[in-house]
This record gives sequence, C-alpha cells and structure tokens, in this order.
Amino acid sequence: MAENITVPKGLADVIVDETAIASTDSDGNLIYRGYVAEELAEKSTFEQVAYLIVYGHLPDRGELREFTSFLNSHENVTGTRRIMRLLPKDVLTIDMLRTVVSLVPLAEKDNDRVLLEIAAKMPRIISDGYRLTRGMKPFGKIRGSYAEKFYHLLTGSVDKKDARLFEELLILYMEHEFNASTFALRVTASTLADPRAAVTAALAAIKGPLHGGANAEILGYLLSLKSKEEARKYVDRKLDKKELVMGFGHRIYKAKDPRAQYLKRRLKDLALEKGAGQLYEVAVAIEDEMWEKKNIPANMDFYAAICMYLLGIDGTFNTPIFAASRSFGWAAHYLEQVSGNKLIRPSSRYVGKTGLHV
Ligand code: COA
Repeated sequence: MAENITVPKGLADVIVDETAIASTDSDGNLIYRGYVAEELAEKSTFEQVAYLIVYGHLPDRGELREFTSFLNSHENVTGTRRIMRLLPKDVLTIDMLRTVVSLVPLAEKDNDRVLLEIAAKMPRIISDGYRLTRGMKPFGKIRGSYAEKFYHLLTGSVDKKDARLFEELLILYMEHEFNASTFALRVTASTLADPRAAVTAALAAIKGPLHGGANAEILGYLLSLKSKEEARKYVDRKLDKKELVMGFGHRIYKAKDPRAQYLKRRLKDLALEKGAGQLYEVAVAIEDEMWEKKNIPANMDFYAAICMYLLGIDGTFNTPIFAASRSFGWAAHYLEQVSGNKLIRPSSRYVGKTGLHV
C-alpha cells in the first residue's frame, strides 16, 4: 500500500507543483515571469503584461500588434445577448459572467486561442450583460487600449488618466500563482476538461468572499465610517467579536501585500484629486489599527476597492474586473497544467462510521 502524507489543512505552505508563471513570498515580493509586478504596473501596458504572462516574454512590436489585434477581433459577444436578456434583472454580475462564459459562442478551436478568446470577451460580457439585464442598451463600438475600452464599458468615461490607473490595477490583479481560483482551474484542467470548463470553475471559485468576493464587501463598511476614531472602533469591535475585517490578511503575505502598497500610494493622489481625503484617512486608520492590534496587513482588495470606487466604478463590477484580468493568468496556468499533466486527485482520511449493515 502506498504511504500517505498528511498535509496542513487548506494546503497552507504546501508546494503542490512547479510553475514558471509567477512567484510570491512572505516578504511581499510578487514576480511575473521574472519581472517585479509593481514595475510592470508602472511602466507597461495591460496588453504587454498579458502577453508576457501567457507567452513567457515581453512582446516585440510585431508580436504586440498581432496579440492586440486578436483581442480586438474577438471581443464581440452579440451572439450571447439573447441569453443575457433571459437572466433576472437583479442577477449578480459575477454570476452573470460565469453563466455567460459557459455558453458564449467561440470561434476558435485550439486550446491556447480559445483561452485568449474567452479572456478577450470578458469586458464586453460584463458590460453588455449588466446593461441588458437592467433594460439598458449596450455601448456601441469603442476604440482604445484594452484598459481604456474596459473602463469606458464600466463607467461611460473616456478619461485617459483614470483609465491609466485602472490599467495599473488590472495589471496587479492579473496573476498570483496557485491562488484558489487558479488552483480550481488547474484541478479542472488536470481532468483534461476543455478551457471553457476550466475557466468556469475558476469563475465559481473567485466569487467567494475569502478570495475575489472580498473586494465587493469592503465599501459596505468603509463608507459608513466618517472619522479615524470611528474606523479604529470598527476594527476593535470586529476583532473583539472574532469577525473578519474584509480586505485584510493573506495566505502568503504576512507582513505586506506589495499590490496593496502600490495602490495605496496611487490612492493618496487620487483621493486628493477627487476630494476624498477623509476616505483615504479612514482607510489608513483601519490599516494601522489592524496592524497594531493583530499584525494583519491590508491586501490588494482593500485598496483596489477604494480606487475603483473613486474611479466611478459600481461595486457590482469589482469581482468581475478581477476575474477579467486574472483570465490571462488562468490562460497561462491552463496551458502549463496540460503541458505536463498529472491528474490532481488527493486522498482523504476517513473519519466516518464503520461496520454498519442494512
Ligand atoms: N480579519 C480579522 N482577523 C483575521 C483576518 C481578517 N481579515 N484574516 C485573518 N485573521 C485572523 C484569523 O482569524 C486568525 O486568527 P487566530 O489565529 O486568532 O485564529 C489569524 O488571523 C490567521 O488567519 P488564517 O485564517 O489562518 O489565515 P489564512 O491564511 O488561512 O487566511 C484569508 C487568509 C485571506 C482567507 C484571511 O486572511 C481572510 O479571511 N481575510 C478576509 C477576506 C479577504 O480579504 N480576502 C481576500 C484575500 S486577497
């Protein structure tokens, strides 16, 4: 009989496989294919980083042109509008996205192209699905970069400066090695299920409040706090009751989440510009109190949710935005998983009843 290995609950600190796509560590380093993620966010475009994540190197001009043209020519989702109209008008946008991704007609056949086609369609599915379920007309043809178009589809705004900050945020959301949704995707890919099935599994996992769903829950409490004192008291109350403060804590980053700190710096200027200095102060007071009382750092979702709010993005889009960006990371992971595949199928220790008879 094969010898079993018992691992910690939640697979914490267990290395289950190798990856060449991204690395994280407890000191707060996040590397995409050898590059520091914050440097990519500051100096690169979304399309360049998406190419890097999927193909392993930064694109030259020709490669970038071809990649961008593929994304542009596959963004259309008009074939799905009939299905979108059938969904209830109060459907959560993340549920709509998951449902539509599992049905949207796809032109491509090869796995790598199908994965990119799904990723290319996500901004349109999110915007068209949201608008159609609420009886609004979808936006017409929009021109611009991936981030500019996506930002327009969410807000109707064509502000280039705001779209650029949105782009930085998207880049920081793009990839994070074996997080829960990516692992769900890799488990599904390991059964040799098709890319669409694997992305649907990832979309199901990302919804949970311990993962991508956290960014949809942060504004709920944050906007109700009007001063630094109220912020500190809120944290103390939650900790006394042993309840979670959403947007804090991380399985890997125990001292700092580099993405959160990057967005915090950006938020400082954004808040000043939008006349939201108090919101920034309240956010920092919550962060300070969580660190002083519990040594738990803010995670990316905390500052991303506030940035998206000040960029005029409705909170229903928060988790879908994360998913749309991460779909490029998922594409890379699907391909990596199937290229050296071994079915992911752990064992369990049975602790139920024994010896019963009917
Ligand atoms: N608020 C209050 N306490 C928290 C906390 C939070 N956001 N996150 C962790 N803790 C506490 C736990 O209750 C636990 O306390 P204890 O030792 O007194 O029991 C301790 O910190 C260790 O947390 P643990 O749950 O073991 O960490 P984890 O690695 O399993 O979980 C998360 C990581 C992300 C699931 C967890 O931090 C969390 O639920 N955060 C809130 C949701 C969130 O923002 N998710 C987005 C992640 S990017």
